[in-house]
Amino acid sequence: MKEEGGDEILKLSPSQSKICNLKSKVSMGMKILFLDQTGKLGGAELSLLEIARQYRETSLVGLFEDGLFRQALEQQQVPVNVLANRSIQVRKDSGLWQSLGSLGQLLPLVYRVAQLSRSYDLIYTNTQKALVVGALASAISRCPMVYHLRDILSVEHFSRTNRGLAISLANRFAVRVIANSEATRAAFIEAGGRADLVQVIYNGFELSLYDTPDPAPEITRRQLELNDRFVVGHFSRLSPWKGQHILIEALAHCPDNVVAILVGDALFGEQDYVKQLHQQVKALGLSDRVQFLGFRKEVISLIAACDLVAHTSTAPEPFGRVIVEAMLCGTPVVAADAGGAVELVSPGKTGWLTPPGDVLKLASVIQDCQKMPEKAAAIAHQAQIDARERFDTMQIQQQIQACLQKIR
Ligand code: UDP
Ligand code: GLC
Repeated sequence: MKEEGGDEILKLSPSQSKICNLKSKVSMGMKILFLDQTGKLGGAELSLLEIARQYRETSLVGLFEDGLFRQALEQQQVPVNVLANRSIQVRKDSGLWQSLGSLGQLLPLVYRVAQLSRSYDLIYTNTQKALVVGALASAISRCPMVYHLRDILSVEHFSRTNRGLAISLANRFAVRVIANSEATRAAFIEAGGRADLVQVIYNGFELSLYDTPDPAPEITRRQLELNDRFVVGHFSRLSPWKGQHILIEALAHCPDNVVAILVGDALFGEQDYVKQLHQQVKALGLSDRVQFLGFRKEVISLIAACDLVAHTSTAPEPFGRVIVEAMLCGTPVVAADAGGAVELVSPGKTGWLTPPGDVLKLASVIQDCQKMPEKAAAIAHQAQIDARERFDTMQIQQQIQACLQKIR
């Protein structure tokens, strides 16, 4: 509208003025309050580490529990603060009453985050519980909130209550949703998420780390007494939907000189599954062909020491960092044909895809790679070129920066 003097005056809604307030600050170096619910080092946290590193001069990572993630952030000189003294007791499959029951724990945290966020330009939530806390805090402090969505919001992964809550909070309070894959974005919209909010940005990787694995592959193989056996690696937390049992079963259909290393631990209390995996190995007589290596902070040299990396998630994988890591190492990779994995691997060109849970198809790909090492190496080489082009952290970082600036 025009006033008498002729200058245009914009009447802003509270959320518009929140965004404009942000606009004036971005150009001076963005102050971001990142929020993540866990202290564990999962893929979402490794990815956030990469992002937060770029904003470490001006930003803070707030965690809802202590752990290795805090240490990793400190090692990279990223300011970090553990904001809660015990973790929030809601699970992905929790129903309404369980979720409401955790309110007593949540509210002090919301208040704390709201207070803290007054000194920041943006709240950047990285996980579901962080979204709940960040959204409520944003409503109180009027600090804009971005949600980095790393989960496929489907029945396979979440209860109806938790899906509904995530969608409502994102739709109402987020100024932008960053999805880690097209699959994640599609599931968000399918569940009722606003399409205009969401943009896909893949995970970024520091390419130089993959140049010369240390220790060299032959040393790692010697240390693990793998010798000249055909080694299939699985790099993931131990959890039923990550499907380590599928690889173990496939191994039983492969020749005796095919062995597996399982790298990763049960990060979120899946102890029964760990027991089940050990029993399965014993029952199939594979004890001398399967090594459980536990959680390793450095996986690159282990990936580089494998002849093949298998990704075996039985539910659609939102992104699948380990697939890209294998590609960057130049190690052939076979992935489960669902979710974000489909966007990472071009079957026959940069890797292999097998139907989730299909043991025999997986066993057949393993044996093909064993029988045709030149073909496998050529595909892995192509995958390395492709991954270096698509997942360079510098490029991804620019996309994040551009996305945050567009909020202005
Ligand atoms: N990873 C690790 N140590 C381990 C096992 C896995 O650092 O012992 C890393 C792996 O390299 C990958 C991440 O954990 O970067 C897992 O991310 P992904 O996206 O594959 O799955 P998520 O666990 O996040 O669902
Ligand atoms: C989550 C997803 C995983 C993805 C990671 C990084 O942990 O489960 O698929 O790779 O986030 O975005």
